[in-house]
Amino acid sequence: MKRIKASAPAKVILLGEHFVVHGEPAIVLAIDKRATVTVEMRNDPKIFIESKDIGASGFFVNDKFHPKMGGEEAGRKLEPIYAIAKEAIRRYNLRYGININIESSIPVGAGLGSSAAVSVATASAIFSMLDPKVSKDTIFNAAFNAEKIVHETPSGVDPAVSTYGGILWYCRSKPIRKLKIDIHLPLVIGNTGKERSTGKLVAKVNELRSRYPLIVGKIIKAGGEIVKRSVKALREGDLKTLGELMNIDHELLRALGVSCRELEELIYAAREAGALGAKLTGAGGGGCMIALAHPEKIIDVAHAIKKAGGEVLVTEKTDEGVIIER
Ligand code: PMV
Repeated sequence: MKRIKASAPAKVILLGEHFVVHGEPAIVLAIDKRATVTVEMRNDPKIFIESKDIGASGFFVNDKFHPKMGGEEAGRKLEPIYAIAKEAIRRYNLRYGININIESSIPVGAGLGSSAAVSVATASAIFSMLDPKVSKDTIFNAAFNAEKIVHETPSGVDPAVSTYGGILWYCRSKPIRKLKIDIHLPLVIGNTGKERSTGKLVAKVNELRSRYPLIVGKIIKAGGEIVKRSVKALREGDLKTLGELMNIDHELLRALGVSCRELEELIYAAREAGALGAKLTGAGGGGCMIALAHPEKIIDVAHAIKKAGGEVLVTEKTDEGVIIER
């Protein structure tokens, strides 16, 4: 039976998280941690999904979930993946179901876009099995629609970078721009290990905006200006300016209430150890921070983050978006 395997990268948001939900641009990088999804057709109409990393598996039959591992909660976690499978079955008029196996080395709920990478790899594997010429845009749209089930008003930045790879300029409802910038970005990622919900944090900012539209509106605009200014710094390889912009960006996010004590501790530790800039990445409220440092300071910054209680992840930017694994 035909089996297809696809993989998609995780991401870090360099600048612009949250503001991007409100129409401002963001700069995002794909990193070399990947989610891999293997699919095959079944000879009955069931859809079986298994993700051992998150302890969830089971069958979907006529929209009803029958857990095998992880109970009813597993059904909620696997719902976006089911939505992608259902969309493919509808679009290609399939009479049979699909087995979907998910493996991922991306920390879950940490702001590195693990759910989007899984959705993109799933969409790529299933759609490519049914149509070998499927476009990346179709894969992106299917994954983005699935993300809308788990997150409140997601911007689409996560599935975009997992699909296309590299460094992206992402602005909601505008064409995605891949920035051709050949820069080595010495970034250290620190994970607080505190799980949080992107949907709830996005809702918190929405709520703050509705209570203080003028004030929060200006903070959001300033976030957008930082992203615009950062492109020049990136093109010139000006790490000092980029670090400063990251620090300002973080303080704006803090003003919106999406940082937390655990993130602040890692960020201060990184800055005190000589980082040029440090900020939360992703939704905040826990999850990960990133620090930018001159290459000779990277080890000091990594040690400082570890000493402050963070799990250090050393990664590189990758240009490879979603791919079919041979
Ligand atoms: O923490 P993550 O990987 O879910 O990223 C969230 C980024 C936000 O800007 C807060 C939300 C979004 O959809 O862009």
